[in-house]
Amino acid sequence: MSALTFSSHQQPASADTAFADFVRGCEAACAIDPEPTARIARLAGELARRWRMPDPRFLQPEPDAPYASYLLYLSHDARLCIVLDIFLPGQAAVIHNHLCWCVFACLHGIEHERIYDVDLSTGVEPKETSRLSRIPGEISIASATANGFHQVECASAEPAISLHIYGADIGATTRQRWNAEKRAYEDFVGGYSNGVFGLPTYFDTLVAAKEPTR
Ligand SMILES: [Fe+2]
Repeated sequence: MSALTFSSHQQPASADTAFADFVRGCEAACAIDPEPTARIARLAGELARRWRMPDPRFLQPEPDAPYASYLLYLSHDARLCIVLDIFLPGQAAVIHNHLCWCVFACLHGIEHERIYDVDLSTGVEPKETSRLSRIPGEISIASATANGFHQVECASAEPAISLHIYGADIGATTRQRWNAEKRAYEDFVGGYSNGVFGLPTYFDTLVAAKEPTR
């Protein structure tokens, strides 16, 4: 990860005690439960009621991208990954899967989620099975299966901001999306917006792993 430093007028993420507590809670959940989505969902719900990203650098839209996606935390073993997504009004993700467990929490604006029935073995186009809207504080759990596809878009007149927690380094995972032009599924790796703006991971792994020293 980048070793960029924060300038003096900007608060380092290590001072974000609410987020630090959340990371530790998620780490503890992962340590005792190989399928921690219910525990993570409860923690994400609690965080979503009291936390908003305090550093505006991690709230910037990414030019020429369908949405911005910032890596906030990645565990050493890459089995816990926390990401902040910023969708401007009208922006949408393509239909995609995750290949790992995923919990996400709306923090600002309104998000629409569409869920699809997919059979990758046939290559038939995704069939929408349900849709729902989320307002700040609401939590969703996305499927980890290869055929578990969904799509998220901003449904408000202001940006939709959401916190996503994954069971793998989602920005480095080769997974699948539906290419509507080619009418075919294709592999892709999502990546993170941090590199576009020269930003480090918001919360340092070592800081999160250690309790404060006396
Ligand atoms: Fe997703």
